[in-house]
Amino acid sequence: MFRAMSSESLHEPIELLSEDTKNQHRAIVSLMEELEAVDWYQQRAEACTDPELKAVLIHNKNEEVEHAMMTLEWLRRKVPVFAENIGTYVGSTGPIVSVEQGATGHGSAGGGAEAPSSSVSLGIGSLKGMK
Ligand SMILES: [Fe+2]
Repeated sequence: MFRAMSSESLHEPIELLSEDTKNQHRAIVSLMEELEAVDWYQQRAEACTDPELKAVLIHNKNEEVEHAMMTLEWLRRKVPVFAENIGTYVGSTGPIVSVEQGATGHGSAGGGAEAPSSSVSLGIGSLKGMK
């Protein structure tokens, strides 16, 4: 899926935005569009009464998931906070809220989470210390 003129969805004047922010915006808008397409294809495929068309729609849905994950990977490589949170949550096991508790240093940690990023943990730890 591709929508031209993604700059229409900017929320601030384009001249105030850096190339990094504009490229991040392009990736985020693309990711949103891919996930929206996944949702649409899922619903269409489920409702479709023709088996061959249903198979095509499921195939297309799965390709949109690939597109979404490629875009997410670009964000992971370029935007540290994405990398930090992906490292914490994606591929973790156990209750997801427990993974968050493990990453933020309170509650019981869920199994399988990678080590929390230092910057996120330090930020929250600093806030807790200020109480
Ligand atoms: Fe796509």
